[in-house]
Amino acid sequence: MTNLDTQELTREVVGRFTDTPDQRLRTVLSSLVKHMHAFAVDVQLTQEEWLAGINFLTATGQKCTSTRQEFILLSDVLGLSMLTVGLQAKQPVGVTEATVFGPFFVPDAPELQNGDDVAQGAPGRPCTVSGSVRGVTGEPIRGAVIDVWQADEEGFYDVQKSDLTKAQARGRLRSRDDGSFEFRSIVAEAYPIPTDGPVGTLLEATKRSPWRPAHLHFMIQAEGYETLITHVFKMGDLYLDSDPVFGVRPSLVADWVPQADGTTVLHYDFVLAPAQSRPSVR
Ligand SMILES: [Fe+2]
Repeated sequence: MTNLDTQELTREVVGRFTDTPDQRLRTVLSSLVKHMHAFAVDVQLTQEEWLAGINFLTATGQKCTSTRQEFILLSDVLGLSMLTVGLQAKQPVGVTEATVFGPFFVPDAPELQNGDDVAQGAPGRPCTVSGSVRGVTGEPIRGAVIDVWQADEEGFYDVQKSDLTKAQARGRLRSRDDGSFEFRSIVAEAYPIPTDGPVGTLLEATKRSPWRPAHLHFMIQAEGYETLITHVFKMGDLYLDSDPVFGVRPSLVADWVPQADGTTVLHYDFVLAPAQSRPSVR
């Protein structure tokens, strides 16, 4: 036992991880401790402030349910989610860019056929979405599993509606033999991320806007290819330059084209990277 100054304390804590059998875990924990300690020193963190931080993290955990993921939202608004997307291995030229997963994905979405209606009664203006899934050499990818999910025109995902007993505006379909896909849905609209929890408190305290630009979420999985998690954003949206989760990439902005019959059409082609070293289908 010895008296420890701050630097000695950091070294001592990091040293306690020396026997960690998993080398990656040792690296991550050691670095985390070093950066947390450096942060506390940098801002001269008081005990009261750290207690406030612990209370905030506690409330964040307590806000989580099977359909509400406040920690993902916190990671998103702090830019950490998008940072990890950017740290992914470099993809070949032409591969569709990835963006944040977001907190509203639900596994086991309804299985749909090409041409089906994803909206399933969700309020909004009718829209047809089509496109293709290909590899970097242009080869069509048949049978790619395409998960799509979106908010309705009121800005809510189905899981945010406690009175709803079925999935709306989300579904899973597969690309055809030529790599193409098509489904009906509703036009995506801008919406505020949920502000009724600790993340909302953080945004309010820092005078940040919760409004996300309109987008469709996609997750595309195919044997032999890297899984793609991304959005397609709506061209012209007011919030493209101020996304609170930093998810917008110019290559992901597309035109929702109004039609003479009052409907809207979106076409977007996806390109998947070849699988690196692990199977891409979950
Ligand atoms: Fe979203």
